[in-house]
Amino acid sequence: MVLSAEQDISARIAGLREDLNAVILAHNYQLAEVQEIADFTGDSLELSVKASDTSADVILFCGVRFMAETAYILSPDKMVLLPRLESGCPMADMAEADELRDMKREQPDALVVTYVNSSAEVKAESDICVTSANAVKIVESLPKNKPIIFVPDRNLGAYVRRETGRDNITLWPGYCPTHLRITATTVKARKKEFPDAEVLVHPECSLDVIDLADTVLSTGGMLRYVAVSKAMRFIVATEMGLIHRLSQENPEKQFIPASEQAICPMMKMHRLEDVLAALEGKKHVVEIPEKTRIKAKSPIERMLEAS
Ligand code: 13P
Ligand code: SF4
Repeated sequence: MVLSAEQDISARIAGLREDLNAVILAHNYQLAEVQEIADFTGDSLELSVKASDTSADVILFCGVRFMAETAYILSPDKMVLLPRLESGCPMADMAEADELRDMKREQPDALVVTYVNSSAEVKAESDICVTSANAVKIVESLPKNKPIIFVPDRNLGAYVRRETGRDNITLWPGYCPTHLRITATTVKARKKEFPDAEVLVHPECSLDVIDLADTVLSTGGMLRYVAVSKAMRFIVATEMGLIHRLSQENPEKQFIPASEQAICPMMKMHRLEDVLAALEGKKHVVEIPEKTRIKAKSPIERMLEAS
């Protein structure tokens, strides 16, 4: 039997995965062919949990850099590989540890609540981490009298502030450029076109888009929601990559992207060739200096305990 180039690469990846005792973790926004070869595909929280309890020797992470860093922070005895080392998250790059230290000096009583979309250095300055799946619940669990600095996503922070009714939350001015491309105008146009569709919105969208949602969820939450919803059509306000899994797991349902512009270039960097090259050469290793790793681990562990 003659294999296509893609089948050949997939077969070689499967062989190396076996030889190296590797696990391939992929975020829900990855290219379809990358999701297909992954052992596990999920949202940021699900991937962190997987990374913390795998028995593999090598974790090959198809996601953005902060996700691979989180895997290493939780499992430093594993080799963590990121097929394309330059795949950083622009929102994570909007918060520097130095600036956060300055803000902490201005508000010495505040708790620092940090979205996992952040560098290890910023996590090391934080009290607790959150993801889009647990941010509201975690903030609700914190003492009401304590002010909060929410880093770095101003949109997720504004949503949490509104949901929890806490007005003592200072928002860092970061945002996701990909979710910013989803506007209230485009969502309203889609709703007009498909009035029977349910609107699923990711909390990295701005509040005016969130206001149009039937439900606001992480990518993993959207997958679980669609599986049990009676609706047959959904307008999906998040990065386009999620549509692959939604369609695969629910072939009888229709998924309409809120914006076809919502494509994260950083998430789309890893191709099958890059996965193969990283496994072959055991290269593009992600590591964090031990002092930073230890400090960054506590807020992530607090989040996992509270989730
Ligand atoms: P979740 O998959 O955790 O909802 O996160 C979305 C995201 O933007 C990750 O970069
Ligand atoms: Fe970062 Fe947005 Fe891309 Fe997620 S979708 S990795 S938050 S830029």
